[in-house]
Amino acid sequence: MGNVDILVGAQWGDEGKGKWIDILAADSEVVVRFQGGNNAGHTLYRNGEKVVLHQIPSGIFQDQQICALSAGVVLNPTELVAEMDKLTAFCQLDPATLWLSEKAHVITPWHIYQDTLREQRSKRPIGTTKRGIGPTYAEKASRLGLRLGDYVNEHKFSQWIDLRIDQSDEFKTFYEENRDLWHQFSQAAPRLQPFVCDAERALRQLIKKGKKVLLEGAQGALLDLDHGTYPYVTSSSTSVGGAYASLGFSPRSVGQIYGVAKAYLTRVGEGPFPTELSCEVGRFLAEKGNEKGATTGRPRRCGWLDMVAMRYVQEVNGFDGFILNKLDVMTGLKEIKICVAYEHPKLGRIDDFPSDHEVLAACQPIYESFSGWETDIPKSGSRQDLPEEALAYVEAVERLCGTRVCYVGTGVHRSDYLS
Ligand code: GDP
Ligand code: IMO
Ligand code: MG
Repeated sequence: MGNVDILVGAQWGDEGKGKWIDILAADSEVVVRFQGGNNAGHTLYRNGEKVVLHQIPSGIFQDQQICALSAGVVLNPTELVAEMDKLTAFCQLDPATLWLSEKAHVITPWHIYQDTLREQRSKRPIGTTKRGIGPTYAEKASRLGLRLGDYVNEHKFSQWIDLRIDQSDEFKTFYEENRDLWHQFSQAAPRLQPFVCDAERALRQLIKKGKKVLLEGAQGALLDLDHGTYPYVTSSSTSVGGAYASLGFSPRSVGQIYGVAKAYLTRVGEGPFPTELSCEVGRFLAEKGNEKGATTGRPRRCGWLDMVAMRYVQEVNGFDGFILNKLDVMTGLKEIKICVAYEHPKLGRIDDFPSDHEVLAACQPIYESFSGWETDIPKSGSRQDLPEEALAYVEAVERLCGTRVCYVGTGVHRSDYLS
């Protein structure tokens, strides 16, 4: 069995990755965020106090943990420094235990401007977080990006600015009209510089030594650039394959692969969502589940669990088990439904997740129905202690997606789960 475990969001994000990394990190020595940027909002509780992490790995609150951001991440330096400052109230951050990859790409004011502008002007907005994520990954792929190792080197940073000014009149105008913004942006470089290193090399050495490493995904598999509901996706590989690419290590070292899913489904931003509920039940889930974006504060759209999507995500990632989170939120519902297939007006019954977002948008869910439960579910212990109907629901999820549920989430705290 390999010593690198991977945890991926199995839906459209906000499944509870932060809480689960915090729990699983107790058994690991290193936690690495492998993609995304400050579009993510991972919520966890430290001594009863709520903390939302956007860029720092969610293992940071386990003592002695090494935390790293690897090459596939994009990062906003100013926001990262602010996040590090906020965390000093809770834990010690030093270059021996926080490693920032020199290969990671930097989100600049230019990228944030581009993201905002495109969303405003587009006839088909994606509903992005406007954090500059798409344009930063696009410039990385175009080989025009700014790597963290270059950003923290004053000479290389000014070379990059000169190059971009030379290449693009639009960039030149934006740069010249926003000198203050760029000055402020450059201020984070000396703060981050001591943390910047060849993180992947150091991580590979730890993996070779047999250290327990836990890789933290951001967003969710349905927002994967290749395998998600394109174009309503984020701009990175959120699936398990993104982890291999970001760290540059052999998949042979992989141990457990976990997929975290809510016991229902949510989505923030635009894009198809066949099981979305705009009725009273949707409002019940949104309110009881506190379904508000941890990054943008936008309301999250809510719906029933979708097994067509879940089976697909299982195929793409090969999870050893699902973590079924937030089951407590469903207590009090009289009836619970699970989508088992779709009905398309022209194509008939569909059992496999479509790659065309227009096909998906036209799909109507075919549901199996289950009885709800009224009594509160236990916070911790064994799933065998669940009310009969709740256990039947968990077992139905296992049956319908052909994968075991290894843990059930029952609340916001570290200890709130059933095995
Ligand atoms: P992430 O982006 O995947 O880390 O998830 P978010 O932090 O954006 O959203 C998950 C929300 O659900 C947060 O407010 C968590 O505190 C909360 N949460 C996590 N696990 C549970 C659970 O088992 N039950 C309940 N009721 N809330 C949970
Ligand atoms: P965590 O890690 C939920 C969504 C946005 C938008 C799309 C593209 O907390 O689960 P982007 O800014 O990435 O270009 O936006 O992706 N999105 C998320 N939705 N949770 C997230 O992160 C998300 N990060 C991006 O709402 O639909
Ligand atoms: Mg989130």
